[in-house]
Amino acid sequence: MKPYVICHMLGSVDGKIKQNIWGLKDAAKYFEEPAAKIKADAWLVGRVTMQEFSSKKPLPKTTARLRIPKEDFVAEKKSKTFAVVIDPSGKCTWDTNMVSTEQVIEVLTEKVSSAYLAHLKDKNVSYIFGGEKELDLKLVLEKLNKLFGIKTVRIDGGGHVNGSFLKAGLIDEFSLVLAPVADGTTGQPTVFEVGEGFGKRKATRFRLKSVKRIYEDFLWIRYEVVKPKRAGRK
Ligand SMILES: NC(=O)c1ccc[n+]([C@@H]2O[C@H](COP(=O)([O-])OP(=O)(O)OC[C@H]3O[C@@H](n4cnc5c(N)ncnc54)[C@H](OP(=O)(O)O)[C@@H]3O)[C@@H](O)[C@H]2O)c1
Repeated sequence: MKPYVICHMLGSVDGKIKQNIWGLKDAAKYFEEPAAKIKADAWLVGRVTMQEFSSKKPLPKTTARLRIPKEDFVAEKKSKTFAVVIDPSGKCTWDTNMVSTEQVIEVLTEKVSSAYLAHLKDKNVSYIFGGEKELDLKLVLEKLNKLFGIKTVRIDGGGHVNGSFLKAGLIDEFSLVLAPVADGTTGQPTVFEVGEGFGKRKATRFRLKSVKRIYEDFLWIRYEVVKPKRAGRK
């Protein structure tokens, strides 16, 4: 079963997501407080975003000749909720298998080394494989449900991970906290980063579920995704 997927982001009016020049005091609360009101069994982020929370230490060096099979590893359950990272090459290192109150799950491809898998096992970090060289995100969601019982996932960015799930048609809802700022920076990630140019792809349509004024000048907008009609159906 595919879990229900809600993408949640804090964005400027021009769709930017890095807050470096926004000048917001206590910036995290504008993302975190609305996020905490969205019920989910897991939050999921891209590798770049997770490196803000994972260890700053490099992968421990080893001289041992290791051959660890590329099989999913489910650590003993320590919490009711999970922190999932899309980390295809295994770049996040860990001091513990928790981020705050959530237990970490690494989503990998088979490109990762045995030394990296040994590190995850040593820290008791769960990991699943989502493909040989590229990730099948539908399979990833199905494994999160089957192996960890996750029924609802909140995707918390950044733009590249959001864009990947959008392109794959796997997002059910979008929750946007619209900050009253125009950023204007070019070359920085936006809410959804999918690919250059328009190509043959169609934009994703949303239907408004609710809109609420918060923190005076912010808007919390909740949309559901309008799913494309299947061919042959009217
Ligand atoms: N305003 C907000 O609400 C908000 C929320 C979250 C994050 N942020 C900010 O956003 C910035 C990071 O965003 P970002 O877009 O640069 O990075 P990101 O989405 O956090 O991470 C991107 C990385 O994730 C991996 N990845 C994502 N989708 C993949 C796929 N389909 N297949 C394989 N790998 C995939 C790749 O890792 P590899 O490069 O290792 O292959 C990719 O480079 C940070 O500054 C963060 O603070 C803002």
